[in-house]
Amino acid sequence: METASTSIDLKQIRAQFPALHQSVHGHSLVYLDSAATTQKPASVILAESDFYEHHNANVHRGVHLLSQLATDQFEAVRVKLAEFINAPDPATVLWTKGCTEAINLVAHSWGSTHLASGDVILLSAMEHHANIVPWQLIAERMGAQILPFPISDEGDILLPKLEALLQAHPVKMVGVKHVCNALGTVNPVAAITRLAHAYGARVLIDGAQGLAHCPLDVTLADVDFYAMSAHKAYGPTGVGALYGKRELLEAMPPYQGGGDMIRTVSWEGTTYNDLPNKFEPGTPNIAGVIAFGAAIDFLNRIEIQDRSGEARREEASVLTYGTELLKSIPGVRLIGEAQEKVGVLSFVMERAHPHDIGTILDRQGIAIRTGHHCCMPLMKRLGVPATARASLAIYSTREELDGLAAGITKVKELFG
Ligand code: ALA
Repeated sequence: METASTSIDLKQIRAQFPALHQSVHGHSLVYLDSAATTQKPASVILAESDFYEHHNANVHRGVHLLSQLATDQFEAVRVKLAEFINAPDPATVLWTKGCTEAINLVAHSWGSTHLASGDVILLSAMEHHANIVPWQLIAERMGAQILPFPISDEGDILLPKLEALLQAHPVKMVGVKHVCNALGTVNPVAAITRLAHAYGARVLIDGAQGLAHCPLDVTLADVDFYAMSAHKAYGPTGVGALYGKRELLEAMPPYQGGGDMIRTVSWEGTTYNDLPNKFEPGTPNIAGVIAFGAAIDFLNRIEIQDRSGEARREEASVLTYGTELLKSIPGVRLIGEAQEKVGVLSFVMERAHPHDIGTILDRQGIAIRTGHHCCMPLMKRLGVPATARASLAIYSTREELDGLAAGITKVKELFG
């Protein structure tokens, strides 16, 4: 396919990602697995190593200079992330070890105090296991019920059907992902939140895939909880965050106990610290949080928040290019063609199982993910056991997608 001209300097962006420049099985790496984890810019890698090299000390605990510097750096990232998602108050941004832990925190802490027997939790039919299983665990404990809300064959949420469920049941919580990791659908979180609130339900958004592609103004969208993951947004693994409305977080009991989350401890009982510390027991992933800060700086540099900005336009244009390319290959069927999509090309092929597709592509240096993508109920809904998934990030190029298409042609040759 003809290569369209780009307005963003992709070469300069790719130069910032050391891991992209290597050979795999004798081929230049084509990394199309960014929904599993994005590669990291040098600034993020450096921020983490720089912390260990120069400032390493525990936070919130020391009177000595290094501890104060570490605390300042650590807390500055909280402010930075709060500004990035437009949270009104940095204390409403809690550090977790990932998006999964953020969702578990809400399910267990909010769920154990707000759910009762007969209550209903609505989860979209495209949810990741991380936004299903924590709710199943708490629903079982509290006697609540989980119902999925439907999606179209293309992968769009069906808002009228969601509203019908909200009308028909005593719904306490609606859980939905911002961006679908398996299909790329961008869900209308503000509209879903408005609907849920109209029926008295709270809303949790799984923002694992959202942050790097279409960040959200949590105040504008009025979401109750927004769970985030650093490693899917150019940051390190092992760190994530939860935004929650202050009044909700204040009313929730601690999720885990330990140091730093207490005000006083005696054998008679414990009183708890203020937000955000109440939900942050133990020594946090300090270096990870600081590197997450460098990832947010990177996202700000490419102006990912700007809806009509170059980065967003370029990502959309590369995705359109890939969509048309894959659709032009006979025997390839795209899975997921939602009205609004980012970053994901899921597909199946006649005669070749996704696992075989992935293995053959790997031998050509092309990294994709295959399987159910932690969305087994979604695969069942779409009538496929698994898909092959190429997922994109800001550094993905049309040339890489040409490489994918050539790789798929090889798979076709091998499978007749
Ligand atoms: N949830 C991640 C993915 O979609 C791991 O690959």
